[in-house]
Amino acid sequence: MPDALPTALLDGELIATSDARVSPLDRGFLFADAVYEVVPCYGGRPLRLDAHLERLAASLEALGLGNPYPAERWRELLAGLIEANGSGDLGVYLQVTRGTGKGRDFLPPSGIEPTVFGFAWRLTPPTTGQLERGLAGVTLEDIRWLRCDIKSTALLAAVMLRREAAEKGGDEAILLRDGHLAEGSSSAVFTVRDGKIVTPPASRERLPSITRQVVGDVLDALDLPLEEREIPASELAGMDEIWIASATREAFAVTRLDGKPVGDGRPGPVWKRVYDEFQALKQRECGE
Ligand code: PDD
Repeated sequence: MPDALPTALLDGELIATSDARVSPLDRGFLFADAVYEVVPCYGGRPLRLDAHLERLAASLEALGLGNPYPAERWRELLAGLIEANGSGDLGVYLQVTRGTGKGRDFLPPSGIEPTVFGFAWRLTPPTTGQLERGLAGVTLEDIRWLRCDIKSTALLAAVMLRREAAEKGGDEAILLRDGHLAEGSSSAVFTVRDGKIVTPPASRERLPSITRQVVGDVLDALDLPLEEREIPASELAGMDEIWIASATREAFAVTRLDGKPVGDGRPGPVWKRVYDEFQALKQRECGE
């Protein structure tokens, strides 16, 4: 991932990223008592910002945390952060913690102010070679908690899983729970078999991915039906195509799973159509 750009957002102010400081007593640091968002921006314009702000509001609500800003203020702050960092194609990270207490109480004290932190980095599109090679997926047992629908900063399990996948030569961990596909360690998953496109339904086992919604719209535009159902782990090895979807990777083909080719080992024809239409959608929604 590229380095953080020079300007960050802290508690409503734009400041030098290198000057940003939060207290070690911040509950985000002590307990991961915090939620976050990653918003992709193209040509300086956020893609599906309303959906990201709605998911942020839902994550805050799940933690019993008040939203520090109305949507309009979030939009202004984000626009300021984007502009201060030179616009263009950016990933924008936003984090809200419950704030800083006087000590380390599991039960959150009342009356503390949330900490709001944001920063950005340049989103560089994958090269043609990277797209044609696709990604290597490694299936692993999902060791995360039971509220994966909350976009919490408690990402230790995802970090451990991603390390394990990398040790096995993988780019992404494809997580299995109770014998079925949960999601990627930081992505939604789509599969194709005999022309049928399937993704697992929303549940507490997975994050309600915004890119998954975008891919759904892309499939609608292409007149390709999408089925939502649980996918048994045993079906994965026989898929013609597998793709992952996330704010930072858009829709990316997984061409190897556990060291074996997915389909013929190259990104499939359905993925290719989705990828092209995804680019067109970005242009429609974020273009001049
Ligand atoms: N992660 N599932 C998990 C567990 C994720 O962490 C992510 C994204 C997704 C895809 O969601 P979206 O389409 O809204 O990006 C699914 C982000 C990119 C991250 O943590 O960096």
